[in-house]
Amino acid sequence: MWHEGYTSEITYTYGYYPELSPTRIRLALLACGIEHSISDNPEYLELGFGQGLSLNINAATNSGTYYGTDFNPGQVANAREFANAMGKPLTLLEDSFEQLSQRGDLPQFDIIALHGIWSWISHGSRQAIVDLALKRLKPGGALYVSYNVTPGWSPGIPLRILMAEYAKREANGVLVDRINGSLEFVDRVIGAGAAYFQNNPQLKQRLDQIKTQDRSYLAHEYYNADWHPMPFSQAADQLAEAKLTFAASAAILENLPAISIPVAAHQILQEIKDPVMRETTRDYFVNQQFRRDIFVKGPRFMPVYDHSKQVEKERFILVGDPEKVPEKVATVIGEADLVADIYNPLVKALAAMPEGSATVGELMAVKELATLNRAQIWEVLLVLTGAGYVAPASKSTTPDEDGAASRALNNRLMLRAEAGAGVDYLAAPKLGAATIVPRFEQMFILALQAKEKNPPEWVRQILVGQGQLLVVEGETIQDEERTRVELKKMFDDFVATKADLLKRLGVY
Ligand SMILES: C[S@@+](CC[C@H](N)C(=O)[O-])C[C@H]1O[C@@H](n2cnc3c(N)ncnc32)[C@H](O)[C@@H]1O
Repeated sequence: MWHEGYTSEITYTYGYYPELSPTRIRLALLACGIEHSISDNPEYLELGFGQGLSLNINAATNSGTYYGTDFNPGQVANAREFANAMGKPLTLLEDSFEQLSQRGDLPQFDIIALHGIWSWISHGSRQAIVDLALKRLKPGGALYVSYNVTPGWSPGIPLRILMAEYAKREANGVLVDRINGSLEFVDRVIGAGAAYFQNNPQLKQRLDQIKTQDRSYLAHEYYNADWHPMPFSQAADQLAEAKLTFAASAAILENLPAISIPVAAHQILQEIKDPVMRETTRDYFVNQQFRRDIFVKGPRFMPVYDHSKQVEKERFILVGDPEKVPEKVATVIGEADLVADIYNPLVKALAAMPEGSATVGELMAVKELATLNRAQIWEVLLVLTGAGYVAPASKSTTPDEDGAASRALNNRLMLRAEAGAGVDYLAAPKLGAATIVPRFEQMFILALQAKEKNPPEWVRQILVGQGQLLVVEGETIQDEERTRVELKKMFDDFVATKADLLKRLGVY
């Protein structure tokens, strides 16, 4: 079968993952001082693009030439519809990784990216990806790969086995029914006091959380024929066959040891000479379940001087509320406190810059920040990026010219939101990535664009037409007048706090 045991009965969810953006990949490498050869106009390939939302948004918001493959024809058709709406040419193939690795008509890529793939495919398919990277990733190019990692996953592996085996061997009906049946079954096993779950009591909580999740997501996450969490060392060894070396985490905060590695681990990790051993050991301290790695074909450390100069040119944009500077940031090991005396003046300075945007060099020239050196400003901006409070600016030489491709794609996405089948993301050309815009905000934008006199009332009429009720903080609002009041509140809030930001980011 074309799907090789990979779940095809239910198509995948529509998600956007910023780690796949060329802008973010470059930033992560710079954060680690790694030299690469990703050009300003990269040749970019995404493997297993799912519904193609990330690929379309990344293509719309970054310069370069974009390719992708996914062997699920329905998903390729969806992704092509987005691409047709966007207008920027995209090459969307229906090849399996094995077929793609045999092709002779592909360029040398600057970036190959795969999200949510590596752990969920067979060894043969992983090998095809390695072959592809060996043949088609250019020297100095980057491969982004995310995967389930041990030991973080280790106690949960038997939970997944029980769920997937029950769905395969015992449950009846279509996949959703088999998934539901398997969840009920495992619940009963836990309830009956099975020793494994008594010894690992956190798994009951895990199951309860799984039960609340979208079945399309669960189908792909847990019910594939293949599911192989592995230690970092195993992934690194296999990718080494493609001459790839671990270079950075695409999760920006994980590149900052001070906040992402427990203090007690620093000494032990520093003593380890082998980088693969070091990273493997790190996972025992951090105990995370999912890694988002960037490997480079022939990484080089940047000379200090070059690094400083490049850091100074990095531009960041304020995307959070300048009045609400975060006091803490969530990390893989808990929470880190952010020192107000450092973070507040920096945010204030950034907010005062035209369009809330400045390079590190420009911030270094601000009088009020004179006590901070380059490295401190850089670290604060990286931390705030990890907190989602600032974002790196797109490096595009042609940020899809005037943002036309992004706006065209966004139009399509907003119409889906109006129909109630949308996603909470829109393309932001100034960021080279998506930004979060929930359904009602998207509908407000549509109303503003159509110059509707009363946007919240326009949205209410659409809800009425679709027989839908507004839900506010979990409460379903039945009353018409209350619905009007709530929608007006939401609209006023959107205009006061978000509309200008989205304009600044080029969203509409
Ligand atoms: C879990 S989904 C992830 C989709 C997307 N990367 C995302 O994160 O939203 C995995 C995707 O890989 C595709 N896929 C799995 N094995 C494949 C193979 N051997 N060749 C091509 N596509 C494959 C599936 O069809 C599915 O769309």
